[in-house]
Amino acid sequence: MTSDSTIVHLSDLHLSAPSPSFHPKRALAYLSWRLRRRSHFDREAFAALPEDIRGLNPSGAVITGDLTQLGLPSEYEQVADWLPQLGDSSRISLVPGNHDVTRAEPPARTLALWDQWIGPPGGPAGQQFPSVREIGDDLVLVGLSSARPSLPTLAVGTLGSAQLESLKEVLDVAGAAGRFRIVFLHHPPCEGDVGWRKRLTDAEQLRCVLNSHGTELVLHGHAHRPLFGSLVAAGRSVPVIGAPSASESNAVKGRRPRYNAYRIARVAAGWELDVSVRAWNARERAFEVDETRRLSVSSPENLRAAN
Ligand SMILES: [Fe+2]
Repeated sequence: MTSDSTIVHLSDLHLSAPSPSFHPKRALAYLSWRLRRRSHFDREAFAALPEDIRGLNPSGAVITGDLTQLGLPSEYEQVADWLPQLGDSSRISLVPGNHDVTRAEPPARTLALWDQWIGPPGGPAGQQFPSVREIGDDLVLVGLSSARPSLPTLAVGTLGSAQLESLKEVLDVAGAAGRFRIVFLHHPPCEGDVGWRKRLTDAEQLRCVLNSHGTELVLHGHAHRPLFGSLVAAGRSVPVIGAPSASESNAVKGRRPRYNAYRIARVAAGWELDVSVRAWNARERAFEVDETRRLSVSSPENLRAAN
């Protein structure tokens, strides 16, 4: 990256069609898909999505989970067949969501099928997350998996102490290199964005690590609505942005397929971040800019100098 770069952020695609399951958690999820989710999946918008993304010529892409409905191995295959439309896998990084891990499955039949889109592991051998994907000279995508099987009716997530421990070193290394660190996960890390049933159980521990070791931007999904918040990282406020579903049309809830694009530029005081929310216009049969925001993130060096 020279002066600026664009990263696109997709979430909660739910793009696969599952087969019926008698596993208690999956049976409920299957019913939910048959009765509700299936009718909200906007096929036309979803078909137009890859071309709209390619039109932005992004430097990289982040997908914050829930690509499937039930996390069946056959759904992992469907997703793996679709992902190449987004471009070179070396510039894409994804993490799973709660729908992708509804019960323990052999990794060879599930997450291993997405290996090239997950990105290189940044922790010790045998630990897939945090993933670390460098984009150009200035950006690094740090992926965290909050996807764990949970009881029926729950959609909680957990990172776990091993992943959080590895995250500390990943953030320190990228921070020392002066990179813009984008930490992304499925579940929102800020309190109140989703209910107790859908929460990240160790959100407080994650916020603690981010505050101690620093980051420049946190991205998530799960809530199916656009969210803009902040948290404290290395003594400064950094943006926390939730992307809505890239495939859901729901007139009752006022939802249409959306995704975010971030233009990130290095400036004298740190970083400038231009957020563009792109939404599907069913009448025009095209994505359009729905909202824009300019945010700034001061660099830790500038913060220290100011103090
Ligand atoms: Fe989710």
